[in-house]
Order: sequence, then structure tokens, then C-alpha cells
Amino acid sequence: MKALTSKELRQLYLDFFRSKGHAIIESASLIPENDPTVLFTTAGMHPLVPYLMGEKHPEGVRLADVQKCLRTGDIDEVGDTSHCTFFEMLGNWSLGDYFKKESIAFSWEFLTSEEWLGIDPDKLYFTCFAGDSDAPQDTVAHDRWVEMGVDPSHIVYLPKKNNWWGPAGQTGPCGPDTEIFYDTGREPCGPDCKAGCDCGKYLEIWNNVFMEYNKVADGVFEPLAQKNVDTGMGLDRTIATLQGVESVYDTDAFSGILAAIARLSGKQYHDDPETTRAFRIVADHVRSATFLLGDRRPVTPSNVDQGYILRRLIRRAIRYAMQLGIPDGSLHIIAEAVIDQYGEFYHELADAKETIIAELNKEEQRFASALKKGIKEFARLSTQLTDKRIDGPSAFHLYDTFGFPIEFTKELAAEQGFTVDEEGFAAAFRAHQEKSHAGAEQRFKGGLADNTEATTALHTATHLLQAGLRKVLNDNTVSQRGSNITAERLRFDFSFGRKVTPEELREVEAFVNEAIQADVTVTCEEMTVEEAKAAGAIGLFENRYGAKVKVYTVPGYSKEICGGPHVQHTGELGKFIIKKEEASSAGVRRIKAVLLHD
Ligand code: ALA
Repeated sequence: MKALTSKELRQLYLDFFRSKGHAIIESASLIPENDPTVLFTTAGMHPLVPYLMGEKHPEGVRLADVQKCLRTGDIDEVGDTSHCTFFEMLGNWSLGDYFKKESIAFSWEFLTSEEWLGIDPDKLYFTCFAGDSDAPQDTVAHDRWVEMGVDPSHIVYLPKKNNWWGPAGQTGPCGPDTEIFYDTGREPCGPDCKAGCDCGKYLEIWNNVFMEYNKVADGVFEPLAQKNVDTGMGLDRTIATLQGVESVYDTDAFSGILAAIARLSGKQYHDDPETTRAFRIVADHVRSATFLLGDRRPVTPSNVDQGYILRRLIRRAIRYAMQLGIPDGSLHIIAEAVIDQYGEFYHELADAKETIIAELNKEEQRFASALKKGIKEFARLSTQLTDKRIDGPSAFHLYDTFGFPIEFTKELAAEQGFTVDEEGFAAAFRAHQEKSHAGAEQRFKGGLADNTEATTALHTATHLLQAGLRKVLNDNTVSQRGSNITAERLRFDFSFGRKVTPEELREVEAFVNEAIQADVTVTCEEMTVEEAKAAGAIGLFENRYGAKVKVYTVPGYSKEICGGPHVQHTGELGKFIIKKEEASSAGVRRIKAVLLHD
């Protein structure tokens, strides 16, 4: 097998699927658009859900990409060998085109052919879906592996718990999968040790999901209109497996980042377990923060939603950097190492370098000295407590005065064998009429929403709102900074330097309502990014040169690059009403609006 770097594996993967007729699509933003149920893109298939459900993709029916993903559910476990909050998922998709046989043949060729990865076939093991009352045993996948030359003793059938993927939320596309494992050569953990065993002998490197079902309710699986393939290969984990190292942090992807931490701290990554853990936490959190700050839909630290998670990542990184003896104000140097590693592929990072550095410095200025004072305060508090429990008002004091996220206080407390009265904290928080971040966490744990009619209508209304703002404010630099839609309302963040006056808001409302009354037909065309620009479409021009995009037009009112879906006629929208206009962050305003139907 070839010795590969992570950049090489990423490139080979894309080259391989390009050679098999796949269009290489750009990674979508880490911030999902118009999906109110999750804060971040958590899997490669996430931005493609509408297309798995049947929406036409402008780039065709065979796609491949590297998707940036962020999962913070396991943030407390970062620091062990495998957990990371940010990761890159390599994926190839068939949208109603090829299915099991071709998908398996592609995977086999990529993994074993000398021209590509050249992995010894004896090292590969496979699992297939065993079948249950929802779907039959996947003998097609099993037999196809055998046709490829796999010894049947290398294939096992496992139940839904192991060999089924999705839906990403409560409902949506899903199906049986076949998973590919690499045998590390370790001794089996017992007589039942086989592919799928999590003792560490067999490491999963690829998951091919055959999405042919739509879960519509618990226990109810309907066939999808088209049979899709969704595959996922975690880049860091696979490269760690292929490089034969114990941890993703020991791969070349992290070497420059860890070297920067070593230079700044004067310590070595492998000095002792505590130091290793702190190095990993700083490396992981700064990497995630860099990608969030440098996203095409940038996130800035705040006390709600994505901004809260970002703040938590940065503040946790600051704490562990301090523990390592890294001087205050140094995180940006680690971020530069992240940009050096990733900026060539993710141009958005290189483009946003100055903003990333400035925002990290700002957050460090805000927090580093408060952290030191807060830790003293925490020590003082803890000597006063007889029951080893931080009460709600004290936890709130640490939050309010010293900027300690509650999770952070819990972590400090746990290290000393203390607990925290979280309910008491929440009560104190509410008493201060702050918006709780609990909603955000809840949503993060939840899944994808359905594309209900209500959200589709609000999505079209969002396009009209942006067009109206540009017109009324007479400012073509007004541009979308965030969009969040629930079944009840839309929320739209846009760049603008001052408050929008009530008169202006009424004019914007009138503009949108006029478009609704005109009951025009919404049209959709596919064109290249350059053609879209020339046609005067607005939107994120994040796609690479020559890539095809969809442009939705509300004739006479709006033209925007967008994945859809939208209503067919503006008359379906009802009455548009702006409920609120407020500051969101520096230079960004936020509007909340609803549609009323009589
Ligand atoms: N969607 C599948 C996964 O995330 C491929 O593992």
C-alpha cells in the first residue's frame, strides 16, 4: 500500500470519482442554510438531503466531494485518540443513478487497485445489513463483494443498529449500508471478534449507504422515488488507519498544528498524558474555530446558537493553552498553522485569514484576563462550599462576570470532585432575561426538519426580503449573513451598518407584499456561476469556476443563487409582516418576519 498524506488521500479520492463520471462539488458551508433543526453540517449527506429526496441537482446525478463537518456532542471527549469536533467527510453520491453493484465496484477498485490506494485485499473486511421487518437481508451487497473476489469469511451480516444509516433527523432518507473495515493485524479480542467489533482490531474506513427509503414516522419506511447511494469516508480517521498510527492527532494533518503548539509552549506533545490531552484539545478547538470564523457564512463568537458554540471552543482552547504555558494572545499563531495546512484546499480560510486572526485576538482579549480572575474566584468559592456543590447564583456569577460558559464551570468543578446546580444556573439565567442557549443545544441534538410547505414559503419570502432590503436601502452591498427558518417564522441576518428605520421596514414589507399580490411564477434555471453573476443573480458565489448552480427568479423582484426548494407562485405566500429588526453583531442586522394566511 502506498504511504499517503492526508492531502494526497483527499486528492486521490476526488480524482478517482472524477474519472468515474462524478462532478466534484464544493464543500457546503459548515452552517446549514434554512435548516432550523441543527446548528452545523454534521455529515456529508446533510446538504444533499433535498437531492436525495428527488430535487434535481444542477451538477448531475453523480457527485463527489469533501464536506466540512462539525459535531460538538462529544466535545468533552476531545483529547482522547479519536474524537475531533471538526472533520472532513469524503463522499460520493448517486442521485437515482447507479446503485449497489456499481457503488461496491467503485469502492473495491479505489481501495485495492495499485493505481489508487493499493490496499492488500486480505486486510479488508465487510459488514452487510442482516434484514428485519423493515427491509430484507442485503444479499445483493454481500454477493457483490464475493464477485469482487472477497472471501465470504470476511463478510458478516449485522442488524440495523450497525448496518443502517439515517435518517439524519426524525424523518427523511435512509437505508441499509455496507461498511468497509481495515484489519490492523491486532490479536482478536475473543472468539466472537469480527468486523464490526469495536475492540480496535477492525477499523471502519468507509460506509456505503443505499438510500432507498424515506422514514416518515417511527417504524414506517416508504420507498423513495429514486434509489440513491450516499457514502462517507472520514478523512482523518482513514488516514490514521492507513498510516498505522494510533490517533488522528498523530497523522500529518496535525503535525504543523502540534508543532506550533510545541513552539509556543516549550513543551512536547508526548511529554505526559495530561500534556498530550491539552495539545489535542487546543489543536482540535483552534482548528474548528478557524473553520467557523473562516466559513463563507462566517460565525462570530456570541452568546447564542453557533456563536455560542464557537465561543465555547475558543474559551476552552484558551484555558488549555494557558495550562500549557502558552502566552496570552497566541491562538492566532496556531490558527495560522491550521490555515497553512488547509488553506490551499479551502480557499475561504486563506481569504478570511485577517478576520480569523482579528476575531481570535478579540476573544482572547475579552477572555484571557477574565479567565485568570475567574479561576481565582472559583478557587475562593470552592473553599467556601461545604457540600461540594456550586450553587446556581454562583455558577451564574462565573458566567456573567467572568464569561465562563456553564459547561466550562462544570468541567472545572468535576476536576475538583464538585457538582454544579445546573437548574439553579438556568433559573438565574432566566431571571436575567438572557436568552438561554439550551434551545440551541437542543436543536443541535435534533435532526433535520422536513421541508414543509411553511418553510418553503418562508424561504421564498426570504429571497424577496433580501431583494427588498437592497432596493429600499439603495445598497447593493447588503448581503445575507445568515438565514434560519422554522415553520413559524424566518430570521434573516444581513450586512448593514445602521439600524433600519421603521419607515424603511414598512417599505420593505410593501415591496414583498407587492410581489406576493402580483402572483408571479417562480422560475429556476441552471447555469454556471459566471453566467449567474452576469445575469445579476445574488447569492454566495462559493462554487468553483465553471460549476453549475441553480438560480431562482421571481420575475421583476428577485434573482438569487440557491438550492431551493421554493413555491411555484408568489401568491401562495400570504401576507408578509416584519416582526422585529435588531443588531445581530457588529455590522450585521437581523430581521424576523412571518407570513400570515387568512
Ligand atoms: N451518511 C453516511 C455517514 O455519515 C455515509 O456515515
